[in-house]
Amino acid sequence: MNIQWYPGHMTKALRAMQEDIKLIDLVIEITDARIPSSSRNPDIDKLAENKKRLVLLNKSDMADDRITQKWVDYYGEKGICALPVNSKDKTSLKRLSNAIKEVCKDKYLRDQKRGIKNTCIRAMVVGIPNVGKSTFINSFSGKSSAKTGNKPGVTKGKQWIKLNKELELLDTPGILWPKFDNDEVGKNLALIGSINDEILNTEELAASGIGFLKEKYPSMLIDRFSNDLDLAKSDYDILSDMALVRNYLSKGSAPDDSKMAKIFLEEFRNAKIGKFTMEEP
Ligand code: G4P
Repeated sequence: MNIQWYPGHMTKALRAMQEDIKLIDLVIEITDARIPSSSRNPDIDKLAENKKRLVLLNKSDMADDRITQKWVDYYGEKGICALPVNSKDKTSLKRLSNAIKEVCKDKYLRDQKRGIKNTCIRAMVVGIPNVGKSTFINSFSGKSSAKTGNKPGVTKGKQWIKLNKELELLDTPGILWPKFDNDEVGKNLALIGSINDEILNTEELAASGIGFLKEKYPSMLIDRFSNDLDLAKSDYDILSDMALVRNYLSKGSAPDDSKMAKIFLEEFRNAKIGKFTMEEP
Protein backbone atom coordinates (compact mmCIF):
# COMPACT_ATOMS: atom_id res chain seq x y z
CA MET A 1 0.00 0.00 0.00
CA ASN A 2 1.60 3.22 -1.07
CA ILE A 3 -0.16 6.34 0.12
CA GLN A 4 1.59 9.67 -0.05
CA TRP A 5 0.49 13.13 0.88
CA TYR A 6 1.53 15.96 -1.35
CA PRO A 7 4.37 17.55 0.61
CA GLY A 8 3.68 21.16 -0.52
CA HIS A 9 0.13 20.84 0.71
CA MET A 10 1.39 19.48 4.01
CA THR A 11 3.90 22.26 4.60
CA LYS A 12 1.23 24.88 3.95
CA ALA A 13 -1.22 23.13 6.27
CA LEU A 14 1.40 22.88 8.97
CA ARG A 15 2.14 26.60 8.74
CA ALA A 16 -1.57 27.47 8.91
CA MET A 17 -1.99 25.31 11.95
CA GLN A 18 1.05 26.78 13.69
CA GLU A 19 -0.54 30.23 13.25
CA ASP A 20 -3.94 29.11 14.52
CA ILE A 21 -2.53 27.35 17.52
CA LYS A 22 -1.01 30.63 18.71
CA LEU A 23 -4.54 31.98 19.18
CA ILE A 24 -5.83 29.31 21.48
CA ASP A 25 -5.52 27.97 25.03
CA LEU A 26 -6.77 24.45 24.50
CA VAL A 27 -6.30 21.85 21.78
CA ILE A 28 -9.13 19.33 21.57
CA GLU A 29 -7.69 16.44 19.62
CA ILE A 30 -10.19 14.05 18.11
CA THR A 31 -9.22 10.46 17.46
CA ASP A 32 -11.20 7.44 16.36
CA ALA A 33 -11.63 5.15 19.38
CA ARG A 34 -11.39 2.07 17.13
CA ILE A 35 -7.86 2.97 16.04
CA PRO A 36 -6.64 5.50 18.62
CA SER A 37 -3.09 5.33 17.35
CA SER A 38 -3.46 5.20 13.56
CA SER A 39 -6.10 7.95 13.63
CA ARG A 40 -3.79 10.54 15.15
CA ASN A 41 -0.82 12.40 13.86
CA PRO A 42 1.82 12.49 16.60
CA ASP A 43 3.13 15.78 15.17
CA ILE A 44 0.35 17.36 17.20
CA ASP A 45 2.47 16.76 20.31
CA LYS A 46 5.00 19.25 18.97
CA LEU A 47 2.41 21.58 17.45
CA ALA A 48 0.46 21.83 20.68
CA GLU A 49 3.49 22.12 22.91
CA ASN A 50 2.73 24.57 25.76
CA LYS A 51 -1.01 24.30 25.15
CA LYS A 52 -3.52 22.52 27.30
CA ARG A 53 -4.69 19.28 25.73
CA LEU A 54 -7.79 17.17 25.72
CA VAL A 55 -7.98 13.95 23.70
CA LEU A 56 -11.39 12.70 22.63
CA LEU A 57 -11.80 9.02 21.79
CA ASN A 58 -14.65 9.64 19.39
CA LYS A 59 -17.01 7.06 17.89
CA SER A 60 -16.67 5.19 21.18
CA ASP A 61 -20.18 3.89 20.48
CA MET A 62 -18.52 1.62 17.90
CA ALA A 63 -15.42 0.72 19.92
CA ASP A 64 -14.64 -1.99 22.48
CA ASP A 65 -15.38 -0.37 25.86
CA ARG A 66 -12.75 -2.42 27.66
CA ILE A 67 -9.97 -1.21 25.37
CA THR A 68 -11.30 2.35 25.31
CA GLN A 69 -10.84 2.39 29.09
CA LYS A 70 -7.25 1.21 28.62
CA TRP A 71 -6.63 4.22 26.37
CA VAL A 72 -8.17 6.57 28.92
CA ASP A 73 -5.81 5.13 31.55
CA TYR A 74 -2.85 5.28 29.18
CA TYR A 75 -3.36 8.99 28.48
CA GLY A 76 -4.09 9.60 32.15
CA GLU A 77 -0.69 8.18 33.06
CA LYS A 78 0.86 10.65 30.63
CA GLY A 79 -0.99 13.49 32.36
CA ILE A 80 -3.38 14.00 29.43
CA CYS A 81 -7.11 13.97 29.98
CA ALA A 82 -8.81 11.62 27.50
CA LEU A 83 -12.56 11.10 27.24
CA PRO A 84 -14.58 8.57 25.28
CA VAL A 85 -17.36 10.35 23.36
CA ASN A 86 -19.97 9.78 20.72
CA SER A 87 -20.27 13.04 18.83
CA LYS A 88 -23.59 12.00 17.37
CA ASP A 89 -25.06 11.91 20.86
CA LYS A 90 -25.09 15.28 22.62
CA THR A 91 -25.58 13.73 26.05
CA SER A 92 -22.20 12.03 25.76
CA LEU A 93 -20.62 15.48 25.51
CA LYS A 94 -22.06 16.72 28.82
CA ARG A 95 -18.99 15.80 30.85
CA LEU A 96 -16.83 17.79 28.52
CA SER A 97 -17.37 21.26 29.99
CA ASN A 98 -16.18 20.07 33.38
CA ALA A 99 -13.18 18.34 31.84
CA ILE A 100 -12.26 21.55 30.01
CA LYS A 101 -12.48 23.53 33.26
CA GLU A 102 -10.28 21.02 35.00
CA VAL A 103 -7.69 20.92 32.20
CA CYS A 104 -7.58 24.73 32.00
CA LYS A 105 -7.70 25.42 35.75
CA ASP A 106 -4.31 27.20 35.66
CA LYS A 107 -5.75 29.89 33.41
CA TYR A 108 -8.73 30.40 35.74
CA LEU A 109 -6.36 30.75 38.70
CA ARG A 110 -4.06 33.13 36.81
CA ASP A 111 -6.98 35.30 35.75
CA GLN A 112 -8.36 35.28 39.29
CA LYS A 113 -5.04 36.58 40.65
CA ARG A 114 -5.07 39.34 38.05
CA GLY A 115 -8.62 40.28 38.98
CA ILE A 116 -10.07 39.04 35.69
CA LYS A 117 -13.53 37.67 36.43
CA ASN A 118 -14.68 36.34 33.08
CA THR A 119 -12.10 33.85 32.00
CA CYS A 120 -12.70 32.73 28.44
CA ILE A 121 -11.02 29.61 27.11
CA ARG A 122 -10.35 29.57 23.40
CA ALA A 123 -10.23 26.09 21.97
CA MET A 124 -9.47 24.49 18.64
CA VAL A 125 -10.53 21.08 17.41
CA VAL A 126 -7.90 19.12 15.51
CA GLY A 127 -7.70 15.70 13.93
CA ILE A 128 -7.16 13.77 10.73
CA PRO A 129 -10.02 13.57 8.18
CA ASN A 130 -13.11 11.57 9.09
CA VAL A 131 -12.54 11.24 12.84
CA GLY A 132 -15.67 13.35 13.37
CA LYS A 133 -14.43 16.92 13.85
CA SER A 134 -17.35 18.68 12.20
CA THR A 135 -19.88 16.34 13.80
CA PHE A 136 -18.31 17.12 17.16
CA ILE A 137 -18.25 20.89 16.63
CA ASN A 138 -21.88 20.87 15.50
CA SER A 139 -23.05 18.73 18.42
CA PHE A 140 -21.03 20.55 21.02
CA SER A 141 -21.99 24.00 19.84
CA GLY A 142 -25.55 23.04 18.99
CA LYS A 143 -25.16 24.74 15.62
CA SER A 144 -24.59 23.46 12.12
CA SER A 145 -21.87 25.91 11.36
CA ALA A 146 -18.71 23.84 11.14
CA LYS A 147 -18.40 23.54 7.40
CA THR A 148 -15.28 21.76 6.30
CA GLY A 149 -13.66 20.90 3.08
CA ASN A 150 -11.33 17.98 3.47
CA LYS A 151 -8.21 20.07 3.20
CA PRO A 152 -5.53 20.00 5.86
CA GLY A 153 -5.04 23.25 7.71
CA VAL A 154 -7.51 25.92 8.67
CA THR A 155 -9.20 28.34 6.32
CA LYS A 156 -8.45 32.05 6.52
CA GLY A 157 -10.70 34.52 8.35
CA LYS A 158 -11.21 33.08 11.78
CA GLN A 159 -14.66 32.78 13.26
CA TRP A 160 -15.28 31.82 16.83
CA ILE A 161 -18.30 29.96 18.08
CA LYS A 162 -19.20 31.22 21.52
CA LEU A 163 -20.40 28.18 23.43
CA ASN A 164 -21.01 30.01 26.67
CA LYS A 165 -19.43 32.85 28.65
CA GLU A 166 -16.39 30.73 29.32
CA LEU A 167 -15.65 28.89 26.12
CA GLU A 168 -15.08 29.80 22.48
CA LEU A 169 -14.33 27.33 19.71
CA LEU A 170 -12.59 28.13 16.46
CA ASP A 171 -15.33 27.29 13.97
CA THR A 172 -13.05 25.52 11.50
CA PRO A 173 -11.22 22.44 12.70
CA GLY A 174 -7.51 21.97 12.20
CA ILE A 175 -7.21 19.13 9.77
CA LEU A 176 -4.12 17.03 10.30
CA TRP A 177 -2.88 14.44 7.85
CA PRO A 178 -2.55 10.79 8.79
CA LYS A 179 0.96 9.63 9.51
CA PHE A 180 1.68 6.63 7.32
CA ASP A 181 4.65 5.41 9.31
CA ASN A 182 3.96 1.83 8.30
CA ASP A 183 1.54 -0.19 6.18
CA GLU A 184 -0.48 -1.01 9.28
CA VAL A 185 -1.66 2.59 9.64
CA GLY A 186 -2.87 2.78 6.03
CA LYS A 187 -4.61 -0.55 6.38
CA ASN A 188 -6.32 0.42 9.64
CA LEU A 189 -7.53 3.72 8.19
CA ALA A 190 -8.80 1.93 5.09
CA LEU A 191 -10.59 -0.68 7.17
CA ILE A 192 -12.60 1.89 9.08
CA GLY A 193 -13.28 3.76 5.85
CA SER A 194 -11.11 6.83 6.31
CA ILE A 195 -9.21 6.33 3.08
CA ASN A 196 -10.85 6.28 -0.30
CA ASP A 197 -11.80 2.72 -1.24
CA GLU A 198 -10.94 3.29 -4.88
CA ILE A 199 -7.22 3.18 -4.23
CA LEU A 200 -7.46 -0.14 -2.43
CA ASN A 201 -8.24 -3.71 -3.30
CA THR A 202 -11.59 -4.36 -1.63
CA GLU A 203 -11.21 -8.11 -1.30
CA GLU A 204 -7.73 -7.81 0.16
CA LEU A 205 -9.01 -5.28 2.66
CA ALA A 206 -12.05 -7.36 3.60
CA ALA A 207 -9.82 -10.43 4.05
CA SER A 208 -7.63 -8.43 6.38
CA GLY A 209 -10.71 -7.32 8.36
CA ILE A 210 -11.81 -10.94 8.59
CA GLY A 211 -8.31 -11.90 9.73
CA PHE A 212 -8.50 -9.31 12.48
CA LEU A 213 -11.94 -10.41 13.70
CA LYS A 214 -10.95 -14.07 13.48
CA GLU A 215 -8.09 -13.41 15.87
CA LYS A 216 -9.62 -10.87 18.26
CA TYR A 217 -13.39 -11.20 18.08
CA PRO A 218 -14.13 -14.64 16.55
CA SER A 219 -17.62 -14.86 18.06
CA MET A 220 -18.67 -11.74 16.15
CA LEU A 221 -18.04 -13.50 12.83
CA ILE A 222 -19.88 -16.61 13.95
CA ASP A 223 -22.84 -14.63 15.32
CA ARG A 224 -23.15 -12.42 12.27
CA PHE A 225 -22.58 -15.02 9.55
CA SER A 226 -22.92 -18.64 10.57
CA ASN A 227 -22.21 -21.15 13.29
CA ASP A 228 -20.77 -23.32 10.54
CA LEU A 229 -18.11 -20.83 9.53
CA ASP A 230 -14.75 -22.62 9.75
CA LEU A 231 -12.36 -20.07 11.20
CA ALA A 232 -9.40 -22.39 10.68
CA LYS A 233 -9.63 -21.63 6.95
CA SER A 234 -7.74 -18.80 5.24
CA ASP A 235 -9.22 -15.28 5.39
CA TYR A 236 -10.05 -15.41 1.66
CA ASP A 237 -11.77 -18.79 2.01
CA ILE A 238 -13.81 -17.46 4.91
CA LEU A 239 -14.84 -14.52 2.72
CA SER A 240 -16.05 -17.00 0.09
CA ASP A 241 -17.88 -19.05 2.72
CA MET A 242 -19.57 -15.87 3.97
CA ALA A 243 -20.70 -15.14 0.40
CA LEU A 244 -22.17 -18.64 0.18
CA VAL A 245 -23.96 -18.21 3.53
CA ARG A 246 -25.53 -15.00 2.22
CA ASN A 247 -26.22 -16.59 -1.15
CA TYR A 248 -24.16 -14.00 -3.01
CA LEU A 249 -23.33 -15.95 -6.14
CA SER A 250 -21.77 -15.00 -9.43
CA LYS A 251 -22.26 -16.82 -12.74
CA GLY A 252 -21.79 -20.57 -12.42
CA SER A 253 -22.85 -20.45 -8.73
CA ALA A 254 -19.36 -19.47 -7.57
CA PRO A 255 -19.33 -17.27 -4.43
CA ASP A 256 -19.38 -13.56 -5.32
CA ASP A 257 -16.36 -12.54 -3.22
CA SER A 258 -16.37 -9.02 -4.57
CA LYS A 259 -19.95 -8.33 -3.44
CA MET A 260 -19.35 -10.00 -0.07
CA ALA A 261 -16.18 -7.93 0.45
CA LYS A 262 -18.02 -4.65 -0.15
CA ILE A 263 -20.87 -5.61 2.13
CA PHE A 264 -18.53 -6.95 4.80
CA LEU A 265 -16.64 -3.65 4.85
CA GLU A 266 -19.85 -1.64 5.11
CA GLU A 267 -21.05 -3.74 8.05
CA PHE A 268 -17.62 -3.72 9.71
CA ARG A 269 -17.33 0.08 9.46
CA ASN A 270 -20.78 0.70 10.86
CA ALA A 271 -20.33 -1.71 13.78
CA LYS A 272 -23.12 -3.92 12.45
CA ILE A 273 -20.85 -6.93 13.04
CA GLY A 274 -20.05 -5.62 16.51
CA LYS A 275 -18.02 -3.10 18.49
CA PHE A 276 -14.28 -3.52 18.12
CA THR A 277 -10.97 -1.77 18.68
CA MET A 278 -7.96 -2.57 16.56
CA GLU A 279 -5.22 -0.97 18.62
CA GLU A 280 -4.29 -1.28 22.29
CA PRO A 281 -2.05 1.21 24.07
P1 G4P B 1 -14.41 15.14 9.93
O1 G4P B 1 -15.04 16.50 10.06
O2 G4P B 1 -13.40 14.88 10.99
O3 G4P B 1 -13.86 14.84 8.57
O4 G4P B 1 -15.55 14.03 10.18
P2 G4P B 1 -17.15 14.17 10.13
O5 G4P B 1 -17.65 15.00 11.24
O6 G4P B 1 -17.56 14.53 8.74
O7 G4P B 1 -17.57 12.65 10.44
C1 G4P B 1 -17.21 11.56 9.61
C2 G4P B 1 -18.25 10.46 9.75
O8 G4P B 1 -18.23 9.94 11.07
C3 G4P B 1 -19.69 10.92 9.52
O9 G4P B 1 -20.39 9.84 8.95
C4 G4P B 1 -20.20 11.14 10.93
O10 G4P B 1 -21.60 11.05 11.02
C5 G4P B 1 -19.53 10.00 11.65
N1 G4P B 1 -19.35 10.25 13.09
C6 G4P B 1 -18.74 11.31 13.69
N2 G4P B 1 -18.69 11.15 15.01
C7 G4P B 1 -19.28 9.96 15.29
C8 G4P B 1 -19.50 9.22 16.51
O11 G4P B 1 -19.11 9.62 17.63
N3 G4P B 1 -20.12 8.02 16.39
C9 G4P B 1 -20.53 7.52 15.17
N4 G4P B 1 -21.13 6.34 15.17
N5 G4P B 1 -20.31 8.18 14.02
C10 G4P B 1 -19.69 9.38 14.07
P3 G4P B 1 -20.79 9.82 7.45
O12 G4P B 1 -21.37 8.49 7.19
O13 G4P B 1 -19.63 10.25 6.62
O14 G4P B 1 -21.84 10.94 7.34
P4 G4P B 1 -23.35 10.98 7.91
O15 G4P B 1 -24.13 10.28 6.87
O16 G4P B 1 -23.38 10.26 9.22
O17 G4P B 1 -23.63 12.42 8.04
